[in-house]
Amino acid sequence: MAAASSNFSTWIVLGLVFALIVAPQAEARAFFVFGDSLVDVGNNNYLATIARADAPPYGIDYPTHRPTGRFSNGLNIPDIISEQIGQPESPLPYLSPELTGERLLNGANFASAGIGILNDTGIQFLNIIRLFRQLHCFEEYQHRVSALIGVQNTKQLVNKALVLITVGGNDFVNNYYLVPFSARSRQYPLPEYVKYLISEYKKQLKRLYELGARRVLVTGTGPLGCVPAELAMRGTDGGCSAELQRAAALYNPQLVQMLQELNREIGETIFIGANTQQMHMDFVSDPQAYGFVTSKIACCGQGPYNGLGLCTALSNLCPNRDLYAFWDPFHPSEKANRIIVQQIMSGSTKYMNPMNLSTVLALDQSMT
Ligand SMILES: *[C@@H]1O[C@H](CO)[C@@H](O)[C@H](O)[C@H]1NC(C)=O
Ligand SMILES: *[C@@H]1O[C@H](CO)[C@@H](O)[C@H](O)[C@H]1NC(C)=O
Repeated sequence: MAAASSNFSTWIVLGLVFALIVAPQAEARAFFVFGDSLVDVGNNNYLATIARADAPPYGIDYPTHRPTGRFSNGLNIPDIISEQIGQPESPLPYLSPELTGERLLNGANFASAGIGILNDTGIQFLNIIRLFRQLHCFEEYQHRVSALIGVQNTKQLVNKALVLITVGGNDFVNNYYLVPFSARSRQYPLPEYVKYLISEYKKQLKRLYELGARRVLVTGTGPLGCVPAELAMRGTDGGCSAELQRAAALYNPQLVQMLQELNREIGETIFIGANTQQMHMDFVSDPQAYGFVTSKIACCGQGPYNGLGLCTALSNLCPNRDLYAFWDPFHPSEKANRIIVQQIMSGSTKYMNPMNLSTVLALDQSMT
């Protein structure tokens, strides 16, 4: 009898645990992230690649004060968006062994530093998860979640999720402009290359839609020519690299046009463009207005503008990271990431097309 009743209560406890583990969260919305080092939260730590941020001083201002694989002194853009939409934690790297059970329902981060729209971008980094692979992983993820909560619930979880995709910068920096006379630059003049990138990207975004994504934030590139690395390597008298600025100026408006086209073709506002070039340009042109002492010199690095080579334990390191727009030669500081997410949340149509994320969240709330 005692044994039976204890068996019974074990079943109740197990049942409760099971319900807690597998019940789709009512309020918290899943969040999926695709892209490059600007949004990687540690996938590359699990790969044989040299594109990694797994050594100090990376992570110096992260809650654990340890490197995590984020290319930041602290949090990066997906972490802050996750915080803003009220998730219990930033979605884990897809390759993390801790991404199991209930945590899968919070979403996943598929981003991998070094990748681009094209497969030949970042080949020097060897084994990274290229964009088409990230989409494969998203499919695989959905199979795993279906085994947990069923096909129908999984479909709903994915349809209701927020998606962020940040890619494109490396197709210039780590492909077209990687070396003088690169294969792609011999194949295409810049305007043709940009058109090619946009048409390839459109196919990948369509695929994301086919895989169930219904609210997708798509960021443009930053002002590629104004990052400390380019000021050090290509800038003239402290000015931005004209060639990379030309690339960003061609690419970003065509990206917005392509997103509008996609939305028209689908007949719904699926893709939302974030003008990260403008967001960055604001503090590049007036760093003091945003509380930065400089937007030219990286906090961590060496050489002119601390823009040469990698950020390592041997590099110069600024004492207060919040005063720098750039953490390392290519990546914004946590403080800059916060300003960017602020604009994503509530920026005007100058920054967000066709609407900002708070409007999206309010709309989606009203439909459920
Ligand atoms: C990248 O490679 C994969 C696998 O070979 C292929 O299916 C995909 O179409 C390629 N993508 C691009 C943009 O070339
Ligand atoms: C953006 O978000 C804010 C709320 O945070 C809202 O007041 C504003 O109207 C929005 N702007 C646009 C252009 O949607």
